[in-house]
Amino acid sequence: MAAFTQPRDRSATIGLRFDYLAPAPAGAAICYPFLLRAFHAMVGTQAATPSPLAIVAATLILIVAFFVPFFAIALAGRPDANPGARRLAYAAGTTPTLFVLLGVVQALIHSPLPDELVWSVLWLVIAIWSQTAGHPAATMRPTVGRWRIVHGMTAALLSLFVTFHLANHLFGLIGPEPHAAVMKIGRVVYRSGVGEPLLVAAMLFQIGTGLFLAWRWSAAPQRFHRTFQVASGAYLSLYILGHMNSVFIYARTFLGIPTDWNFAIGAPTGLIHDAWNIRLLPHYALGVFFVLSHLASGLRVVLIAHGVNGGAANRLWGAGVAASAVISAAIIVGMCGVQVR
Ligand code: HEM
Repeated sequence: MAAFTQPRDRSATIGLRFDYLAPAPAGAAICYPFLLRAFHAMVGTQAATPSPLAIVAATLILIVAFFVPFFAIALAGRPDANPGARRLAYAAGTTPTLFVLLGVVQALIHSPLPDELVWSVLWLVIAIWSQTAGHPAATMRPTVGRWRIVHGMTAALLSLFVTFHLANHLFGLIGPEPHAAVMKIGRVVYRSGVGEPLLVAAMLFQIGTGLFLAWRWSAAPQRFHRTFQVASGAYLSLYILGHMNSVFIYARTFLGIPTDWNFAIGAPTGLIHDAWNIRLLPHYALGVFFVLSHLASGLRVVLIAHGVNGGAANRLWGAGVAASAVISAAIIVGMCGVQVR
């Protein structure tokens, strides 16, 4: 079973040698809000028409912002990182969604402090914790068998909602009205007196079991596919938590506004031209990308466990990841105003 062989844990052999790459994920995460600020400075408000040069610069800046979580995930896969450094890297992989969660919580508590300041302090604290708290290196394959199965079974159920929800957002490509019409049909089930509590409970259970599994797997270096699975799961745990906080607490309870298309796209300013809303773009894009590619990762493990050839399972996974990127891009361009009629 070549796909299950583990990389050698070299962190124990490093001894007291300083790991210069260990704090890099926190550094990248700290840069993230400033990249979004730079993007906004380039594109300006809706009233302004940016020059072609500003558009090129803004595009490059956004690409670098998207690069931050992937850079962190790459560092989470280093065989010579100690467990604390690895967990810091996994945490930094959640940067786009954690920054949205922070912004919403800041608004909920009427914080007078700028998001960037709180964010930077938070990352310094996480970075220090990652290197000072005891993170004992564990076995490469932790004993999580029962939890993996339960997590996979709930994922299969929740994927019914996710499939509908993302298909609903794809209708945004045709226009806000078709999007609203499809949402109205889905709400009969997922916002019903029985459906909604069940959905929320299942999501919370998924977050809990997912974070538990991620904690256990992150104690040791893993190969590429497992690292991606853990990192995408970590992102999703925070994404779903933050997303439900935005929908249930911030929008419906705190602001008392409907959670419709206008809420999703940050109307009237939209996702691109608003200094706050731009953070929603990578958050949503990677939420869609990681939920679909995380499901593809789970499917890969199930297939291999049932005797499917590792190479074939990996190729299917690759196709799943490519499809996740295409679906994510389609939803996001629709939310940015592109329509296909
Ligand atoms: C582009 C990406 C996404 C956007 C724009 C988006 C937007 C929304 C909106 C507008 C609602 C409120 C729905 C309503 O009022 O009926 C909602 C609810 C919800 N979304 Fe998403 N979503 C996205 C992706 C996801 C993903 C990837 C997940 C899960 C992994 C997710 C999980 C949920 C859940 C659990 C609810 C609560 C449903 C309820 O109202 O009971 N969303 N989302």
